[in-house]
Amino acid sequence: MRLIAPSILAADFLNLGREIAFLNESADIIHLDIMDGTQVPNISFGFSVVEPVAKIAQIPMDAHLMIVHPENYFERLVKLGIQMISFHAEAVEREGESVIEFIKNLKAMGVKAGVAINPDYPIEKALEFVSEADYIVVMSVFAGFGGQKFIEATYDRVKALKSRIRETGSECLIQVDGGVGVGNIGTLEEAGVDMFVAGSSVFRGGNPPEAIKALREA
Ligand code: DX5
Ligand code: ZN
Repeated sequence: MRLIAPSILAADFLNLGREIAFLNESADIIHLDIMDGTQVPNISFGFSVVEPVAKIAQIPMDAHLMIVHPENYFERLVKLGIQMISFHAEAVEREGESVIEFIKNLKAMGVKAGVAINPDYPIEKALEFVSEADYIVVMSVFAGFGGQKFIEATYDRVKALKSRIRETGSECLIQVDGGVGVGNIGTLEEAGVDMFVAGSSVFRGGNPPEAIKALREA
């Protein structure tokens, strides 16, 4: 099944309640891009946005943590009812911490654990995460900004992950994030992607429900 996870980073923040209402009706997952200006060169939003969104969300929320020390916020996000949390392998390894341990911690809190990897993270290393993670976020742009151009090398990275998932019988899902639209969603699905994050292609055309329908049918 093709799971559509719109990123509210591209939403109209002056009308965020209306945007979430659209997603409740037509999307599968609400993707929350949380950036700290250190792990990535941009700042997005934090709890002052996540809390009110969580109050009206009727579909699962997925927090994509592009921050240093993501573990400091796991518990608070879980308490708000966020069902899926991903953190960047790069952020954890820079601190000499273990990605596998972080995955285990998240799972012990009762949420789905995701590991996000930037386009230059060695895919061989990411293959080791599929036995523990609930999902891998294959970044198809460098994390930090919406509206970037999709990186074509993503297909081969997805295929490598998918074949490891099949070999090991793991139930790990693949999420792709960045530059996803009607022009590449079908090919990404064929390569093995399960969950599609889409910011610009959902919100920038002015009609999110129509755009989501187009993504499902493309
Ligand atoms: C990038 C974010 C993405 C981004 C997707 O750092 O993680 O979720 O908002 O936006 P588009 O679909 O516009 O590339
Ligand atoms: Zn994201």
